Amino acid sequence: MKNNRRHFIKSSAALLAGAASPVVYSMSESTPSALPVPSAAKIISTWNFAVEANKPAWEILSQGGTALDAVEVGARVPEADENNHSVGYGGFPDREGIVTLDASIMDHHSNCGAVACLEGFKHPISIARKVMEETPHVMLVGKGAQKFALAQGFKKQNLLTEKAKQKWQQWLRKSDYVPEINVENHDTIGMLALDSHGNLAGATTTSGVAWKMHGRVGDSPIIGAGLFVDNEVGAVACTGLGEAVIRTGASTVVMEMMRAGKTPQQACEIATQRIHKIHKNHRDMKYLQVAFIAMNTQGKHGAFSLRGGFQYAIAEPNGQTLHNAGHILKWS
Ligand code: GLY
Repeated sequence: MKNNRRHFIKSSAALLAGAASPVVYSMSESTPSALPVPSAAKIISTWNFAVEANKPAWEILSQGGTALDAVEVGARVPEADENNHSVGYGGFPDREGIVTLDASIMDHHSNCGAVACLEGFKHPISIARKVMEETPHVMLVGKGAQKFALAQGFKKQNLLTEKAKQKWQQWLRKSDYVPEINVENHDTIGMLALDSHGNLAGATTTSGVAWKMHGRVGDSPIIGAGLFVDNEVGAVACTGLGEAVIRTGASTVVMEMMRAGKTPQQACEIATQRIHKIHKNHRDMKYLQVAFIAMNTQGKHGAFSLRGGFQYAIAEPNGQTLHNAGHILKWS
């Protein structure tokens, strides 16, 4: 398989409004395959770690697989990465030292599933998919989600790595709650995929903001806040401070803007501007970062963030690119 892969080095001239720098990304190891690739297929995902996540997801799309399978497989990559401290195993814990995970998934029939405040399972995205497929519900939380995961055969394990524990112990010395969303170019991974059948799907997965209160749930598992898919219009995922995304029903805003005829880029910018306006005098403003990715049924994408530093990765038949999103504000 590897022999069939081409190397791609792509420079994107299509900078988005306000983008900080030109986009150059080298795909030297694994890329969209050289198999006949459905021209419609495309993936867009949040943050720099999306590059690795997009690889197995693209393998699925390039073989004619479904967008739903692609986003699940892709989301599992950062979930399993102990060096990623905002998703899955190795995620930074809450202020009690407990790692709790949120995830959601949505398909082209508007089926969706989510888990929130889930402890002890490395792959919440797969449990969210089981909630969608095996239960009459959309979301399971806490102990109920754990019980369901065990019943579905998922293995319980400790998610708090030694490194994350040390960071938490350092934090405890001051116990100062300041969400640091851009520090490692990380937060929620949101993945949106369009498959060769013309169907969209989306997934989000995160350990949420570090040092949150125990029981806190962010935007990622909430359909219409952190994720939304409507196969007649498009798909949207959000990342950043979940409280701000929930307050504004942000992915619904982007979706309805696209439904009304805005491009995905325009829709992401409008939603970001709305969040900015609502939060100008809000206590969260000093550390607020939010970002959006969106894709419509034609595979046109958009991305935008409140502050600089947000990156997103696109996988499509002729390669993969990592982009700096346009934004409104600089970090001061
Ligand atoms: N966007 C992730 C969170 O706020 O939990």
